[in-house]
Amino acid sequence: MSNPASVHPVDPAFAAQSRYTREEYERQYAESVRDPDGFWGRIAQRLDWFKPPSKISNVSYDLGDFRIKWYEDGELNVSVNCLDRHLAERGDKTALLFERDDPNQPAEPITYRELHARVCRLANALRNLGVAKGDRVTIYLPMIPEAVVAMLACARIGAIHSVVFGGFAPNSIADRIADCASKLVITSDEGLRGGKKIALKANVDAALKLPGTNSVETVIVVRHTGAAVDMQMPRDRWYDVVVEGQSEQCEPERMNAEDPLFILYTSGSTGKPKGVLHTTGGYLVYASFTHEAVFDLREDDVYWCTADVGWVTGHSYIVYGPLANGATALVFEGVPNYPDVSRFWNVIDKHNVTIFYTAPTAIRALMRDGDEPVKKTSRKSLRLLGTVGEPINPEAWRWYYDVVGDGRCPIVDTWWQTETGGILITPLAGAIDLKPGSATKPFFGVQPALVDANGKLLEGEAEGNLVLTASWPGQMRTVYGDHARFIETYFKTYPGNYFTGDGCRRDADGYYWITGRVDDVINVSGHRIGTAEVESALVLHPKVAEAAVVGFPHDLKGQGIYAYVTLIAGEAPSEELRKELVAWVRKEIGPIATPDHLQWAPGLPKTRSGKIMRRILRKIAENAPDQLGDTSTLADPSVVESLVNERLGK
Ligand code: WT7
Repeated sequence: MSNPASVHPVDPAFAAQSRYTREEYERQYAESVRDPDGFWGRIAQRLDWFKPPSKISNVSYDLGDFRIKWYEDGELNVSVNCLDRHLAERGDKTALLFERDDPNQPAEPITYRELHARVCRLANALRNLGVAKGDRVTIYLPMIPEAVVAMLACARIGAIHSVVFGGFAPNSIADRIADCASKLVITSDEGLRGGKKIALKANVDAALKLPGTNSVETVIVVRHTGAAVDMQMPRDRWYDVVVEGQSEQCEPERMNAEDPLFILYTSGSTGKPKGVLHTTGGYLVYASFTHEAVFDLREDDVYWCTADVGWVTGHSYIVYGPLANGATALVFEGVPNYPDVSRFWNVIDKHNVTIFYTAPTAIRALMRDGDEPVKKTSRKSLRLLGTVGEPINPEAWRWYYDVVGDGRCPIVDTWWQTETGGILITPLAGAIDLKPGSATKPFFGVQPALVDANGKLLEGEAEGNLVLTASWPGQMRTVYGDHARFIETYFKTYPGNYFTGDGCRRDADGYYWITGRVDDVINVSGHRIGTAEVESALVLHPKVAEAAVVGFPHDLKGQGIYAYVTLIAGEAPSEELRKELVAWVRKEIGPIATPDHLQWAPGLPKTRSGKIMRRILRKIAENAPDQLGDTSTLADPSVVESLVNERLGK
C-alpha cells in the first residue's frame, strides 16, 4: 500500500520554473473534464491549421451509435506543423541530433531548415513514384534520420505510414505489409546496433517472397552501412538516387483532421497484431501538448527519448510531439551497453541532454552494473527524467532518481498505450508529488476509472480493471480494415467505456498504480507480445502438436515468455529440439519474441470443454504451485501434477 515515507514532494525550485504548479494542474484538470470542448478547442490552437476546426469533439462509445471524431472539420498538414512553421524562427535550430552506434563517428545535427528540405525531396520522390494521398507506405529502417524523414514525407503527401520495428522477422513484415496492402517499402541495406549488423534489406526481400505482399511496387533502399545488397530492378531503388535533383519545396497535402496519419501494428490477446490507426488533427494536438506539458519543455532543451521509431513512443515522443513543438530531439542508433554500459550517460554529457526518457527494463539492466559506470559521468545537464512501457519497480525508480538523477531530477512515470496515442496518466513534475512505482494522476481531459470483473464501478481506494470513461483527441480511431474488431476489443467488455487491458490500483490519495496486463498480452521489456502469436508460431513447427504460452516475472525484462509445448506422437523431447523451437520462434516472429523458457508438456491443463487453463500455467511458470487455486474444473488433474513436477525438477 502507499507508504507515506516514500512520497517525493514537488521540488519548490522546480515548481517555480515549471509550466504547471499544483494549483494550475488542478484548475485546468477540472476545466478539462467540465468543459472538454472548450478545453480541447483552446489547446488545438497550438497547431497551424489551414482551416481551424469549428467542431471539437463528436464522440459516442454507445455500441449502437459509435463514433470517435475530433476537430472533424479542421484541415492541416502534420509535416507543415513539424517543419514549415518553425522555419522563420527556428530554421537554424537543431531539430534532430543524430548519435550513431559507433561513438567515434561524429554526431550529426540536422537543423529544421535542413530537415524540411530532406522531407520535401523525399516527398516529391514518393509522389513521382506514384504514391498518393491514402496510399500505405511501410517503413522498415534503423534509428537513423531517414526514418524520421520518411515518416514526415508520408505525412506531407497524405500517405499513411506503417513503421515496422527492425527487430521483426520477414514473416512479421509480410503480415504487416499484406494487412494494409502497402504500395512502397522504405528500408536500408543494413542496420547497426551495438556493432552488430542487421540484414534489413535481405529481410524485406524474404518478406516480399511471401504470399499477400504483391501490392508492393517499389522498395527504396537507404545506403547506410554500405553493404552490398541484392537490388531487384525495377522494383528496388536507391534512396540517394530517387531524391537526387528533387526540389526542396513540396506542396503539402491539405488533410482533414480525421484523415489517417499512420498505422502501427500491436499485439493483442487474440489473433494477429492489430493495425492501430491514428488520424491527423487529434493525434498531433495530443502528442504535442503532452510532450510540452509532461516534459515541461523549454526552448533550449536537448530532449532524448531512447525508444525506437518502430514503437509508438518513437512516433509520439521522438518524431511528432517534439518536432511539432520545435524541440531538439536526439536520435540514437545504438544500445545502452555498447561500447560499454556508460553509453547513455556519456551521450547525455556529450550533448548536454536536459530531458531523458527511457524504459524500466533499460534502467534495471544498467542498475545491475552498479553505480560506478554512472558516477564517472557528470549528467549535470539533466533536469527531468521519464520512464515508459511497463510498471517500474520502486527499487529501480530509486536508483534512477538517486544515482542517474543525483537526487535532483523529478521522474515522470508515464502510462499510456499504442492505442492512446499519447501519455494518459503521469505526474507533472511541478504539480504532483511523486511516489516511486506510481504513474500518479490523469493528464488533462483524461478520466480513468476502475471496474471489477462484472463492470461495477469501484470508488475510492480500490483495485480493478482500468477503463477510460471519456475520449481524448489522441485516441486510436479504428483497427485498420476491421472496425468490428476495434469495437469488440476495446468497447464490448465494459460497455460505455474504453477498456485498457490493464489492471490498476488507486490508493487513498487517488494515485494510480498500474499492476500490468490482465489479458493474454505479455509485456516483455516494454514490448507487447501476444501469447496467441507465439503459440501460432510454435504449432507451425511440424513436430509440435500443441502449445500454450504465458508470461512470468523476469528480473530484467519485467515479464518473460514461458512456452509449454506438446509434441506430436512419436517425437521425443530433447535439448536439441528445445533449441530448435526457440530458434524457430525467433525466425517466425523476430528476436523480441524469443521464449525464455520452454517446458515439455505431455498434456495441457484443460477444462472439460477443452479450454486451456492459463491461470494454472501462469502459476506453474511463476514457480508457485501452492497457488494454483481452484482446479476442480480440470478434465485431467494428473496433467497439472506432471507439469509441476517437471518444473520443480529443474
Ligand atoms: C502497455 C502498452 C506506451 C508506450 C510503450 C508501450 C504497459 C506502459 C506503463 C507505465 C505501467 C505501463 C501497460 C500498457 N505500460 N507504460 N508507465 N506503467 N505499465 O506501449 O506496447 O502499446 O504497451 O504497456 O500494460 O497497457 P504498448
